[in-house]
This record gives sequence, C-alpha cells and structure tokens, in this order.
Amino acid sequence: MTRKILVTSALPYANGAIHLGHLVEYIQTDIWVRFQKMAGNECWYVCADDTHGTPIMLRAEKEGITPEQLIERVHGEHYRDFSGFLVGFDNYYTTHSPETRDCANTIYGRLRDAGLIEVRTIEQYFDPVKQLFLPDRFIKGECPKCHAKDQYGDNCEACGAAYAPTDLIEPYSAVSGAKPELRNSEHYFFKLSDPRCEAFLRAYTSSGVLQNEAANKMQEWLGEPGDNKLTDWDISRDAPYFGFEIPDAPGKYFYVWLDAPIGYMGSFRNLCAQKGLDFDEFFKPESTTELYHFIGKDILYFHALFWPAELAHAGYRTPTKIFAHGFLTVDGAKMSKSRGTFITADSFLKTGLNPEWLRYYYAAKLSATMEDIDLNLEDFVARVNADLVGKYVNIASRSAGFIAKRFNGQLAPADGSLPAIRAIQDAAPRIAELYEAREFGKAMREVMALADGANQYVDSVKPWELAKQEGRDADLHAACTNALNLFRLLTVLLKPILPVVAGKVEAFLNIAPLTWADTGSLLAAGHAINAYEHLMTRVDPKLIEKLVEANRESLAPAPEQQSQQRHAEHQQKAAEAPAGEFCSIDDFMKVDLRIARIADAAHVEGADKLVRLTLDIGEEKTRNVFAGIKSAYDPAQLVGRLTVMVANLAPRKMKFGLSEGMVLAASDPDGKTGGLYILSPDSGAQPGMRVK
Ligand code: 2FM
Ligand code: ZN
Repeated sequence: MTRKILVTSALPYANGAIHLGHLVEYIQTDIWVRFQKMAGNECWYVCADDTHGTPIMLRAEKEGITPEQLIERVHGEHYRDFSGFLVGFDNYYTTHSPETRDCANTIYGRLRDAGLIEVRTIEQYFDPVKQLFLPDRFIKGECPKCHAKDQYGDNCEACGAAYAPTDLIEPYSAVSGAKPELRNSEHYFFKLSDPRCEAFLRAYTSSGVLQNEAANKMQEWLGEPGDNKLTDWDISRDAPYFGFEIPDAPGKYFYVWLDAPIGYMGSFRNLCAQKGLDFDEFFKPESTTELYHFIGKDILYFHALFWPAELAHAGYRTPTKIFAHGFLTVDGAKMSKSRGTFITADSFLKTGLNPEWLRYYYAAKLSATMEDIDLNLEDFVARVNADLVGKYVNIASRSAGFIAKRFNGQLAPADGSLPAIRAIQDAAPRIAELYEAREFGKAMREVMALADGANQYVDSVKPWELAKQEGRDADLHAACTNALNLFRLLTVLLKPILPVVAGKVEAFLNIAPLTWADTGSLLAAGHAINAYEHLMTRVDPKLIEKLVEANRESLAPAPEQQSQQRHAEHQQKAAEAPAGEFCSIDDFMKVDLRIARIADAAHVEGADKLVRLTLDIGEEKTRNVFAGIKSAYDPAQLVGRLTVMVANLAPRKMKFGLSEGMVLAASDPDGKTGGLYILSPDSGAQPGMRVK
C-alpha cells in the first residue's frame, strides 16, 4: 500500500546564513524523503523560513530596511543554499504568510474556546530608550552566581547557572545599553499545566513517537503525576513586535515559537493549493497519513510538548514521530570562526566543493540517535576519495569504455547468479530498512562492502587483460556487462544520497529514473548504453584549505539569535577575541551613518582645531558635534551643507561640552599633504537617511 507521508525539517531563522551545522538536518531529511519517494510512497517535504520575533525586527532596523525586506532577501539566500545542496523541498515557504496566520488564528481560537488560554499580568524588563520589552537574550549583566560580567539574561556562559533576567546584577539592555526598567504587561498563556494537557502529554510522549533518549528527557520534564512540573507557556509578546497580531488582543502578538511550527502547516497548505492535495486528509484527527518532524535535539521541548499539546486540543492530528539529531562538530570541536570551521553553505559551494561529497560524508556518519556528529576534514577527503571515487565510480569507469568501443554500446546478457550481483539484490531490502530507520551510516557501510564485492569481481575477471587477448571477446563482453549491472544496482542504493550522480548514471546507462524496485531487475541483453560521462572527481585537499581560509574570521553574518547551534555560537562568541584585518558586514552595520544637514557652525572659544557643528539628522533634537576641521573650513561656509555623520558613536564629554557624534572627512593617511575634506552626498539625499 502506498503510504502518504508529510515530512518537515526545522524552519531556519530568517536572519542568518545557512551553515554546515544546519545542513546535517536538511541533508538527513532530504535523504529520507528521497528514499521514500524512490520506494513508491507519496511523500511531501515542506519547510519555510522562520521569520518573526524581536531579533529579526532589530536586525532589519540595524540594516535600515523593513523586516519584510529582510525576510524576503534571506528567503532567497536560504533557498539558493538548500538547492545548492540538492535539498529537494516540495515547498519552501515562509511563516509570514496568510496560510500560517490563518492556521495560527484557528489554533489559538480553538484553544481559547477550550479554556486553555489565560491572560495574566507579568513583570518584564523594558528598554526605556528603545521603548520595547526585552527578550531574555537581549538583557545582559553580571552573573548572580559567579559574578562574570556581560552574561545573558537566561544563563551564564562562564559557570553554566540558569536564572531569570531579574536575577542579573546591574542589568543593561544589549540593544541600547540602557538600564532596563521592570514594567507590568498582560500576557497570554497556553495552559500546559491544565490536567487535560498533562494527561495527554504523559500518554503521547511515552507512546513511541520519540527516540528513547528523548522520551526519557520528557519523563524528566513531566515529573511524576502530582508534581505539577509543567508550567504554562507564555505565547504573547507586546508591540513593537514583528509577527502576527493576536485576533482579539490589539497590540499583542503571537510569540515567534507559537507560529513557527504552525508554519509547517502553512507551508503544506500552500503546497496543497498548488498540487490539489487535501489538507484535511493530512491534518484531521483520524488521519491515516503519517507526519514526521526532523529537528535538532535542542528544540525537543517545543516539538514534543507544546506543539502536540496545541494540535491535540485544537482538533488536529499529532505527529507520528519526532526525529531529533545531534549537533555538528568540526575536527572534534565546536564550529569556530577564528579557526575557519564555522563554514557557510555558500562558501562551500563557491570554493568549488561538490555538495554530494558532503551528503555522502554526513550519510556515512548519521544514525537514528541524538549523538553529535563530527566532520573531520582530513577524514572527509580520505573517505570520499576512497569510497565514492575509489570504490563506486571506479566500477563504471573501468568497464564502460570497452562496451562502447568493442561492442557498439550494446550489452550482453547479465549473469543473475553472479555472487556479487546476488549479494546486492539480497541486501537491498535490508538496506531499505536501514534507510527507513535513519541508520544511514550502517546503510553506507553495507553499500561499500557490496562495492568491495563488485570490485573484487572486476579484479578477478580483469577486463583490461581480456581486451588484449585474442578470442576473448565474449568473456570481455560478459565481464563488462556484469560490472555495469553491479554499478547500476549500487547506484540505486546510493541514489537518495547522490541524486546528481544518479541522474548522470541514468543518462549514461540510457535508463528511466531508478526506483527502489529496480534492485530486483538487471539490464536486458542488447540494451544500448550512451557514452560514459565523467561522474565525480576526487577531493583535492587544497580545496579544504581554501574553504577554511575563506571562513576564517568569517565574512558570514553571525546569527544573533538561536539557531540549531544557538548555544554553541553564543559560547563561541564569548570565547573568541576579535582578530584579523577584516571587518564583517555585521561589524560595519553597527556603525550608524546618517546624512546630516549642518544647521549651524561656529568657532569654539579657546580651541585651535575645533569647529562646533549643529547637525540635523531628521530627529527631533539636533546633535552637537565638535569637529577638528578648523584648519580647512571657515564655519560660515559650512552652514546649510549636507554631510555624513556617525550617529551612534558613544557621546563624549569634552572640555567645551558634549560631542554627540562625528562627521566624516577624508585626509591623507599620514597627514603629509595636510588637506582635509568633509564628505557630501549626491544631490537628493535628505537629512536622516542611512548611509551603508
Ligand atoms: O531553532 C530554530 O532555528 C527555530 N527557527 C526552529 C523552528 S522549527 C519550527 F518549529 F518551526
Ligand atoms: Zn556565572
């Protein structure tokens, strides 16, 4: 029977670049989905960008664009990166969509009608300068336990303590630097502590939907009946917030983590409209379809507790299984910008590395557990070269030429009783089970053992020697035919991992797209193949050096908020001292350059270099700046001119008063020529415009 399956990967935040850590999950999911499709199942793979929340709002502001512009740009970048790694989503959508909004409203409405939403007043830190409530990650201060400075509001990276932002000593806003104030606000809560939710979650999390390790973790979080360990979940945030406004609560928005998983539904609903699929068939409570979420182990809480509880109490089906994986390490350590191992997807492809190399390497390392996987760069080169090029591709390259040159491209009858062929055909169902169970590493070990068998066959019949011997044409023909059949069978087994190579093989063998059922057949005698096409080159270790160089002190924007490796990244940011001669685009963006109109300019009594400038940058108040340009300009000639100023330089107290910024001027670096030239924008620029 054809199974109907809906599969998702976690939605990446729309404010950071895709890196090799993300790709573990997308490649894992994609391999599984490709396998299901090859096995003849109806399988849909959807994903989307996770677009809402304070960090995205602030990031857009910092770049001087709207959040909509930011998420549109990042969507393009993410889609490009995933396509580059052959991740074949059926739909790559966005949570900022009418479908997601509608599903979120429906779920919220039903939870409210079921009495599972409660409004409560809470006390939260508020940034009086930015006029917004601060998420925990945007509050910093001294750790109450170990007194390390500059720790985040939720936990200390020096001693590992977890606490509330209100426990921090001398807290400050990471956005403006201001001292945050405690303010009251009404928040909306999903009542996870309701007995209905607790009973449901106890049954659900122990019903086999989770890996053992994950199920145990949930047991810990749930505690014993009567422990009341589940706390209600705060699902609202106050304006200003980039997200969906709660229908019956003006000024209140759904917290990004409320609408993110609903984005799975939104993306699928959008796909249903494109393909004429029945959304309800997949999401009604009694659905016989299967729903799988691939996620990182760090977001289990959201996927195994909040999300199923929401679905169950809003009249939808719950996930069939939740598959959590571990994190990626590179050369045994956390990805690091200073070591150049925080590798972006884009840089990998731009350096000229083949995405199928990484797909194979990850496959060889992946299992069904939540263990971390290590990308060892030396091992990567060795294994790809030995397995893919040395073992697999080698079989075809050693036999195809003879068929073309000596037998007019036509095959002889294959020998179905050949042990190497029988071995592959016997192993195919077992390998299918390994794919199904996400034991890709085990599957690859079996496939490579089978490839060894195929090579032993070729080595034993030695086509290159047969070709030189008189009267051995029939033997040569049979040997090469068998070798190509072995190669075709191995290609079926590797196709979920190597879709591009498989496509080239299909073209060269002149066959229809391979499916899993093809493991049961052989190529017919007389079948004509096409000219052998080069399939895959060896990894040149120099490319790896280049890749690491390209990522050292990365030019890639640092994801500011949580990603699959959110914790690792923050730790790493804290641990690494800035070095190197490059400034990242992020660093550059920190400098807020604005067009300024010089409203007034005057000599400063007692200062022989300074001019006092009054600058209008479109704000209510003008800025007072002391500029060392007296030698080059007469104040009177400056009034009315437009120039460029640094608007977010920390104010500096000078003998003559407060200087609230800096104007930009050009000069000879070592000052020999003495000239000084302040900048002017092209005509049309207005005071307050951002320069970048
Ligand atoms: O952790 C993250 O990167 C989140 N953006 C994942 C969201 S997954 C789903 F719930 F949408
Ligand atoms: Zn501490």
